[in-house]
Amino acid sequence: MPSLLHLDSGANRSGASISRQLTALFADTWRSVHGPADYRYRDLVTDPVPPLDTAYCSLGRRLERNGLVPAAEVDALTESPAEEREWALTRPLIADLLAADTVLIGAPMYNYSISAALKAWIDRVSFPGAFTDPDTGTGLLDGTRVVVISTRGGAYGPGTPLEACDFQNPYLRAYFGRQGVAAENIHFVNAEMTMAGLVPHLADFRPFAANSLAAARSEVTALAAAR
Ligand SMILES: Cc1cc2nc3c(=O)[nH]c(=O)nc-3n(C[C@H](O)[C@H](O)[C@H](O)COP(=O)(O)O)c2cc1C
Repeated sequence: MPSLLHLDSGANRSGASISRQLTALFADTWRSVHGPADYRYRDLVTDPVPPLDTAYCSLGRRLERNGLVPAAEVDALTESPAEEREWALTRPLIADLLAADTVLIGAPMYNYSISAALKAWIDRVSFPGAFTDPDTGTGLLDGTRVVVISTRGGAYGPGTPLEACDFQNPYLRAYFGRQGVAAENIHFVNAEMTMAGLVPHLADFRPFAANSLAAARSEVTALAAAR
């Protein structure tokens, strides 16, 4: 049965959020095609992932030193209540990610990169060995599809003056690729110039923004229906 993990990470929770509009369109389309059964949602802003602490690091370092184990065996390796707490915060996030065929991420550009809310999820879920079978070395995310809904106030496409300042999409592509997601399974839907309607000096870019959003909507619908 197809399964979808939907994450939103933009601070703006009003109806004006483009990333949230687009992830909602994806989720609605996906559920109308596949049914609601295996849909999971986390708003990383209202339900933030706590930052890591020393106990997360000490538990992770023990695994790195002694050999990685499957997530199911990490419980037995905790050595303090603090480590147990850290693992209890971490394990369900890993389980949700591993259970998902598709991971849908609403990812606004904040200061040329991703939001702190999304980075907190990435840091915690990337526990040592979480995405590799320690016995076979097989990647556990090799069949996973990642769909990033990338919104940005400006434009960062090929040939634009700010292209080199895009530390959002290239970062997410590198991150998921290094975790074992196949390159062909990482999709970016970009809605650009989202600030054009608001900022007077960007007014000339309103048609560009409207076209970008319309293209994003049809890409979202096609990706949601595809799998
Ligand atoms: C804290 C913050 C930082 C931002 N930094 C950038 C930036 O570096 N580059 C950019 O093009 N837009 C930037 N923006 C604009 C957002 O990327 C844009 O408004 C986007 O549409 C936000 O996603 P949302 O519509 O889902 O809220 C920033 C917005 C905020 C709130």
